[in-house]
Amino acid sequence: MPIPRPDYTSAVSAASYGSGMERTSGAGVQAYYAESAERLATVYESVSFESVHEALLDLLPEPPARVLDVGAGTGRDAAALAGRDFTVDAVEPVTELRRVAERLHPGTGVTWRAGALPELHGVQGPYDVVLLSAVWMHLGSEERPAAMRRLAELLAPGGTLLITLRRGEPPVDRRMFDIPAEEVAGHGAAVGLIPTRLVDEGADRLGREAVRWNSVALRKGF
Ligand SMILES: C[S@@+](CC[C@H](N)C(=O)[O-])C[C@H]1O[C@@H](n2cnc3c(N)ncnc32)[C@H](O)[C@@H]1O
Repeated sequence: MPIPRPDYTSAVSAASYGSGMERTSGAGVQAYYAESAERLATVYESVSFESVHEALLDLLPEPPARVLDVGAGTGRDAAALAGRDFTVDAVEPVTELRRVAERLHPGTGVTWRAGALPELHGVQGPYDVVLLSAVWMHLGSEERPAAMRRLAELLAPGGTLLITLRRGEPPVDRRMFDIPAEEVAGHGAAVGLIPTRLVDEGADRLGREAVRWNSVALRKGF
């Protein structure tokens, strides 16, 4: 079946970045995030959900709807989505980041849990929106097909998967890959998700010259 042609746009947005854990293959990533949790909180929370995800905001459904934030970090996006009246579950493998998130965003109604792709054990859909903001690039090539299958399973019919990708040469201090948006669209198509938008967002919001961002939106059919 032919893949519907996504709408390619250019935009100027996106922020960037960079122990308890569910799995072992991401151990290098986990150590980095566990050790840097407090410092990263300052970085991640210095930009707003709206500015980081500007290119995808119009794809959010009207609340109420169920949203899953995977690799939710310090909770910036989960808290903002809860503030928009969505019912939000946030999954984060790093205990230190979850603790920071709960401290920085109390009383938002976000449900926090430990978990990691590709399994996301114990997470129960269906979700109208699943967000992976700056997370997919931590998955190895052997994990990505299973991760996409699991995300498709968690989506409600008509639901939307939003993925942002850090592009450019990966740093050496954590496990990261430079993954093209087209590859993400291909993995999505393999499990029946329809690519609806690929965005090359260009410059890094935090000013790092070697970093740029792509965003991908995929929709599950009815
Ligand atoms: C660059 S941070 C982004 C955090 C947050 N989503 C944001 O945009 O501010 C990457 C996050 O992915 C998480 N992560 C790494 N590997 C993961 C995996 N296999 N499953 C789920 N989350 C993962 C990290 O713990 C970290 O919170």
